Amino acid sequence: MKPLAVGPHEIWPPLVLAPMSGVTNRTMRALYKPFGLGLTVTEFVSSNALQYASSAKRTMEMIDQHGLEKPVSTQLWGDDPAVMAKAAKIVRECGADIVDINFGCPAPKVTKTNGGSACLRDLDRCEAIMRAVVEAVDCPVTMKMRLGWSEDKLVYIEAAQRAQTAGVKALTLHARTAKQFYKGNADWAHIKRLKESVDIPVIGNGDLSDAHDAIRRMEETGVDAIMLGRATLGNPWLISQIRDLMEGRAAQAVPSAADRLRYAIGVHYRAMLEELGESRAVPQMRKHLALYLKGIPGAAVLRERIMRLDRAQDVVAVVEETIESLERAVAA
Ligand SMILES: Cc1cc2nc3c(=O)[nH]c(=O)nc-3n(C[C@H](O)[C@H](O)[C@H](O)COP(=O)(O)O)c2cc1C
Repeated sequence: MKPLAVGPHEIWPPLVLAPMSGVTNRTMRALYKPFGLGLTVTEFVSSNALQYASSAKRTMEMIDQHGLEKPVSTQLWGDDPAVMAKAAKIVRECGADIVDINFGCPAPKVTKTNGGSACLRDLDRCEAIMRAVVEAVDCPVTMKMRLGWSEDKLVYIEAAQRAQTAGVKALTLHARTAKQFYKGNADWAHIKRLKESVDIPVIGNGDLSDAHDAIRRMEETGVDAIMLGRATLGNPWLISQIRDLMEGRAAQAVPSAADRLRYAIGVHYRAMLEELGESRAVPQMRKHLALYLKGIPGAAVLRERIMRLDRAQDVVAVVEETIESLERAVAA
């Protein structure tokens, strides 16, 4: 297995954390990186929002990459080549090592203005965006897409070939159509086909949730890297397991339920509180804790309790109580 080469960046291991809006903020990325990620990607950022000098504080938080994990890729969305080019310059100045273009988002708030996956309905526009962004920055530009807008018009191979000609340095394919949203399964046969159709590196994405399966997918398709999204939430140990296999070791065991919750509260919750303050961290952490609780006896009741709590210390108390009862059960 080789490092993922994106322009001058030799990325090891070839394991990428998926951009996830509302999730992969700077704290999350910094927490997950040491588990064994080669590359992290920000939440997507609206190129339009960046045109205003007084961009909202939240947008600026998303693009400020100074002093953070390296390399980091900042993802942009938009449908206007000139606006995307200007936005790319801004994020590059704010520390992005790579600029990633989003042609994958199926959310109506993005597609109604022809952004994200809606761009795949007009490949001339996609190409103009890619050319403008490549021209605008002195760092590698990458692109993440879906198979196409709908099943009857799969455009990923043509989009990829145009990307390669435009100077894009790597591609990620989430092997679903926009219309599928998250239904059905990601079809890795398309990822294999894409890898065979272009010379630039291809990153495969969609539904990876088991370390051995992830390596098998990589071998079967010949992709240069894999990207993990939802399955890492509440389970960053999956990242370490895949890194172990990539580095030729047996995959380490996932920690005990009590230790997983200790990490959730002692490391993840604490870091989010420090970064965001209680009023933002508590609601954001509800979804994370719900996932850390997966597989733990009585998880449904615990989730319900946590959903109703607004003070961090009360949430911590519930989880600590759970850790104690898990340990009592093991001792017994
Ligand atoms: C909550 C959430 C937010 C997402 N936000 C983005 C985003 O900002 N940009 C993007 O390209 N993809 C986004 N995605 C898609 C993921 O990057 C990824 O392509 C998708 O989840 C499939 O990978 P997985 O099966 O490993 O989760 C998001 C997915 C989720 C679940």
